[in-house]
Amino acid sequence: MRALTPRREDKFSIGLWTVGWTARDMFGSPTRSPVDVVEAIERLAELGVYGVSFHEEDLFPFGCAESERLRAVERLREALASTGVVASMLTTNLFSHPVFKDGGFTSNDRAVRRFALRKVFRNIDLAAELGTPVYVMWGGREGSEYDSAKDVLAALQRYREAANLMADYAVDNGYQLRFAIEPKPNEPRGDILLPTVGHALAFIDTLERPDLFGVNPETGHEQMAGLNYMHGVAQALDHGKLFHVDLNGQRGIKFDQDLVFGHGDIANAFSLVDLLEHGGPLGGPCYTGVKNFDYKPSRTEDMTGVWESAAFNMRMYLLLKQRTEAFRSDPEVIEAMSAARVAELSTPTLGEGETYSDLIADRSAYEDFDAQSYFGGKGFGFVRLNQLALEHLMGAR
Ligand code: GCO
Ligand code: MN
Ligand code: MN
Repeated sequence: MRALTPRREDKFSIGLWTVGWTARDMFGSPTRSPVDVVEAIERLAELGVYGVSFHEEDLFPFGCAESERLRAVERLREALASTGVVASMLTTNLFSHPVFKDGGFTSNDRAVRRFALRKVFRNIDLAAELGTPVYVMWGGREGSEYDSAKDVLAALQRYREAANLMADYAVDNGYQLRFAIEPKPNEPRGDILLPTVGHALAFIDTLERPDLFGVNPETGHEQMAGLNYMHGVAQALDHGKLFHVDLNGQRGIKFDQDLVFGHGDIANAFSLVDLLEHGGPLGGPCYTGVKNFDYKPSRTEDMTGVWESAAFNMRMYLLLKQRTEAFRSDPEVIEAMSAARVAELSTPTLGEGETYSDLIADRSAYEDFDAQSYFGGKGFGFVRLNQLALEHLMGAR
């Protein structure tokens, strides 16, 4: 069935660090062998991905010889060329090596901050070389465990200094690259700076080139903070800052589970897909970027499970897309949406050319307004609408 077969135009991408995860975790050694990058790209191409995202260290090891780095990049190029898969996002690993134990851009150690910037500049060059349009900044180690050990005001100044330098570097080199900040509230640091979409959006406004910066909201990260992921994505869209998305699953406020997309809060996944696919003007798609799956094939899985789970991310998205289309075209839903006055919210509160003085003069808006009639009456029927959404989600309609 086409509808469920991923195609390039679906613009699905998968992080190489996901299917390549050997399943080492805090409490256990690997349960799987490493996966070669070329094999990963070839397998993902067979599954229908449009792109792959990666850290440079997913390609070559920290501190390797330039010849090894160049060879790894060449192998990547060959794999991309032979499969037609694109390098849709690139980022720098500023969190694995011990040098980054107190972060990269916001380490108390200035020499580490300078080292981190140099590492990033090299990868901005690589992104430009590969034609990668988005560079993600996930500051996993930018944060602290102890309030007295981190001058947060200074940390934000250093973060801003780094971001401004990255943008200057890209512009001065004529690179067509945009930057997407990926918020996360905690893990691996006790508290990570820029923990949610809201914090990141506010931070972007303080940068010298804010137009080059957007966000890369991740499903589980907002949900780790107890927030509604669809709401965070909607606010990023409202700001014109949804430059990338990391989709996965999370079951409540706990460690970052990085489950397959939809394997966590599936009702919120349904509304997220509904937003991305139908939230645009006149109900069309409101996001044209890649849908990147940043998940981890569970430690319990073998290699068959790894490739199956990669495919499940895209299948879940396409199933949800199908169900949101049925939801939106269901006459009962259309009627329930009308009863809930959902579309009325798009009507400005003041009329064309109306001023607040006109509003104050309008007795029907206040003096003669029958607020009491809302007691016992004028229900919105939201529960019925939610029931219809869930019935579509469950394939009961
Ligand atoms: C995490 C993050 C990372 C980043 C990746 C790209 O919680 O580990 O989601 O997977 O997305 O480093 O920046
Ligand atoms: Mn994550
Ligand atoms: Mn992520």
